[in-house]
Amino acid sequence: MSAVVSVAGIRKTYGSTVAVDDVSFEVVEGEIFGLIGPNGAGKTTTMECVEGLRRPDRGAISVLDLDPIRDVYALQQRVGVQLQEAQFQKRIKVWEAVDLWGALYRTPADGARLLDQLGLADKRDAWFMTLSGGQKQRLFIALALINNPDVVFLDELTTGLDPQARRAIWDLVRGIKDRGKTVFMTTHLMEEAERLCDRVAIIDRGRIVDIDTPAALVARHCPERTVLLTTADAGAEERFRATRAVDNVIRAETRFTIRGHGDDFVTEVIRCLSDHRIHVADFRTETPTLEDVFLKVTGHSIRD
Ligand SMILES: Nc1ncnc2c1ncn2[C@@H]1O[C@H](COP(=O)(O)OP(=O)(O)OP(=O)(O)O)[C@@H](O)[C@H]1O
Ligand SMILES: [Mg+2]
Repeated sequence: MSAVVSVAGIRKTYGSTVAVDDVSFEVVEGEIFGLIGPNGAGKTTTMECVEGLRRPDRGAISVLDLDPIRDVYALQQRVGVQLQEAQFQKRIKVWEAVDLWGALYRTPADGARLLDQLGLADKRDAWFMTLSGGQKQRLFIALALINNPDVVFLDELTTGLDPQARRAIWDLVRGIKDRGKTVFMTTHLMEEAERLCDRVAIIDRGRIVDIDTPAALVARHCPERTVLLTTADAGAEERFRATRAVDNVIRAETRFTIRGHGDDFVTEVIRCLSDHRIHVADFRTETPTLEDVFLKVTGHSIRD
């Protein structure tokens, strides 16, 4: 796999604020790579350095083997950019925005087809100001794709959207990947990263804390598993405690929280229930998420 984006040891300060410090990562061809972290972590700063909009104080960046600042014109033809806070004049029509944007490129994609693919065909004559939040975001995705880019940068794409609009956007981003493009995105929504990204870099206070697939990060930092069940069986607690792979059992009347580790943990608990004919009224498992990983590796919640 070749690196489409390569960032090595970049640092960026604004006065006395160190926004990004010693950040390194690679985005490989064909993947959806997410930079995830809380507000102010340095996501946009990092992305804008990669886009050539900001110059890092030190470190090196290459995008498609080009230098984002020196080769800005060559790169513009090959990358698509959606900015975190983009706006348009209120009364530009959707098709006008698409036409205008397409005119900036040597070989623009078919704008009508893009609008169709993004579910905006019936909005082509609508003013920008009349679009909903989700429709505006879809228009910005259309514009980021108008030059048929090899790599697309998406900064906080779904912020402010309702869950339904968010899911629709996720499908669109998967569609971009399915068309063979590389996606580099930022988000502070752990669920979004977990569902969408092939690999993520966790950034906190300007520094990268870890990089991997969401599943590998969970396995590495939060290997514990939990079973929650309800049973009135008087001997159950003792049986659970005697089960291999179980680390700890918490009981609140008939409700049990059983924690353990390893791939066989849930199977072992089920086997214990079966072997001892323990009747359960309720049974569910809980798997840690990227949210739990974030808390574990940074010591604070992403919402703080
Ligand atoms: N133009 C600027 N001038 C001064 N400080 C800035 C500037 N842009 C960003 N910062 C500071 O740099 C830090 C990182 O900001 P950045 O926008 O990169 O964070 P972010 O992770 O994108 O946050 P968000 O999730 O809110 O978009 C913050 O402390 C912010 O206040
Ligand atoms: Mg940002």
